[in-house]
Amino acid sequence: MTVANIAHDVADLSLADAGARRTAWAGREMPVLATIRERVSKERPFAGLRIGACLHVTTETANLAITLRDAGASVALCASNPLSTQDDAAASLVVNEGIAVFARKGEDRDTYYRHIEAVLETRPEITMDDGADVVTLLHTTRRELLGGVRGGTEETTTGVIRLQAMAAEGVLAYPIIAVNEARTKHMFDNQYGTGQSAVDGLLRATNVLIAGKTAVVCGYGWVGRGVASRLRGMGAIVVIVEVDPLRGLEAAMDGYQVMPIAEAARRGDIFLTTTGNLNVIGAKHFPLLKDGAILANAGHFNDEIEIPALERMARGKRTIRPFVEEYALDGKNVFLLAEGRLLNHAAAEANPAAVMDMSFSNQVLAIEQIDAMKRERGPALPDRTSPYRRGASPGEAGD
Ligand code: NAI
Repeated sequence: MTVANIAHDVADLSLADAGARRTAWAGREMPVLATIRERVSKERPFAGLRIGACLHVTTETANLAITLRDAGASVALCASNPLSTQDDAAASLVVNEGIAVFARKGEDRDTYYRHIEAVLETRPEITMDDGADVVTLLHTTRRELLGGVRGGTEETTTGVIRLQAMAAEGVLAYPIIAVNEARTKHMFDNQYGTGQSAVDGLLRATNVLIAGKTAVVCGYGWVGRGVASRLRGMGAIVVIVEVDPLRGLEAAMDGYQVMPIAEAARRGDIFLTTTGNLNVIGAKHFPLLKDGAILANAGHFNDEIEIPALERMARGKRTIRPFVEEYALDGKNVFLLAEGRLLNHAAAEANPAAVMDMSFSNQVLAIEQIDAMKRERGPALPDRTSPYRRGASPGEAGD
């Protein structure tokens, strides 16, 4: 195998050896996926199947891609976020595994979409999304490819919500399994994985002492409660902002202070949005912030903090250190981490392998399920028996 034969656009192929070592390191914490890999390597259930994956390109995803390849699939991979790619993992997949990868950490918007297009050029029969960007392109600019798609999977809460909206409108053209709805996904990946890795990102980006600080967590869903519990464990005074009254009540009974963002904005030293919602901290809140307030996001898109308004309102802006931008507002400076993008992916190493083991095992099993459905074309998201719904308490969904 020579690299020249493998379609790719990655940052630096010389990082391949480092990527291989780190991929193997992550693999040590992924025993379930390893068990599945052993089986599918023999059974080859995906022989000849073209899979187009748009996922965070990490060492854990590398283990997933290798498993799919060993199951017989032809895999093309691009990033589901411009800042989440681990360049060494991407290089290793190309050089050591012969897998097509189109992803560079820090890629601009045009490159991000060009990379998704490169995956679509492989005419995938199965799509794997983390945020529904592939599905969106397929249903808008690349509709001619839809006929060849057999099914897909979706990894995250925000992507599932986008797909449910499409399904409700009757426009979703093929079935997609909402991997996020597996309890072995959202209860562990979203909660314990992001709970830890978002705090890891906060520490790596800023090195601030958490003990004694007032940390405001917006959203008390799976991600929010994970982040809140880890921040509390490190000695922060944690305030929860939640729009769902039941979840707010749960937060109160879990021992947190619960208040509207307008009030929390005046108190917080550190803010972390985890809602999947738009402009959770916005133009009307910035004037309320304390000098030195740190703003960060762990939700899927970079629109939970109203960055265009912050840019408009700021008298100046400068980079303090990697992933820390200082905005000068009237009478104070506030700090935005990682451009408001997924903090745990941008400034740290994303979710630890032990939880991605469960998420990605679900991914492989979901593709087996879709493959078993063969070419039957039914209504999208056919199985809605999961108790998990947006707005339902994670506790309700849990058991
Ligand atoms: P969830 O639906 O369980 O929780 C979101 C919570 O935010 C809900 O309780 C909702 O009522 C609340 N909320 C909505 N708008 C709000 C507002 N304006 N103010 C305060 N609270 C508000 O969703 P989950 O699973 O916790 O995911 C949250 C986000 O994190 C999604 O965008 C998801 O895709 C993303 N995610 C990120 C991960 C990462 O690695 N950083 C991993 C998993 C999910």
